[in-house]
Amino acid sequence: MSKNCSVIILILVGFLLAACDSLDPQEIRKRQHLPGKDFVADPQKGKVLFSDNCSRCHGTDARGTNHGPPLVHNIYRPGHHADISFHWAVKNGVKKHHWDFGDMPPIPNLTPEETGHIIAYIRKEQRTAGIQ
Ligand code: HEC
Repeated sequence: MSKNCSVIILILVGFLLAACDSLDPQEIRKRQHLPGKDFVADPQKGKVLFSDNCSRCHGTDARGTNHGPPLVHNIYRPGHHADISFHWAVKNGVKKHHWDFGDMPPIPNLTPEETGHIIAYIRKEQRTAGIQ
């Protein structure tokens, strides 16, 4: 086999491996900042994580402050802001668009699982407030 031919085969194998890697569903979830499939969210853990990472802007029990909106609000109901928009808000931050508080910065220290706990806590608070 010529040297050129082996190089081409090596490149093709490389592409195939890369393609397989990107098709692994767990890997895709990780890249999208989503927890693994078997993850079980715990709102109690979420309450503590929310208080440490979000409450300075979103307020005690997610009821809002002068620096950020309440997340216990009809705008953030599951049908209008699905869980993935919470994951993306934490990973990428949010450009000001619904309110006049300015942009939300990314919160880089949180894992997808920790964010999942926080979302479970916010959803629980929303249900308590009658937001479905
Ligand atoms: C420094 C202040 C600040 C912190 C800290 C903060 N946020 Fe925000 N967040 C904002 C502001 C301001 C907005 C509103 C942007 C707008 O729509 O105008 C916002 C919007 C959001 C939204 C709506 C996203 C969308 O798609 O419209 C979500 C969800 C959210 N925050 C979740 C969180 C969570 C969860 C945490 C903690 C891990 C957090 N935020 C921490 C300021 C903050």
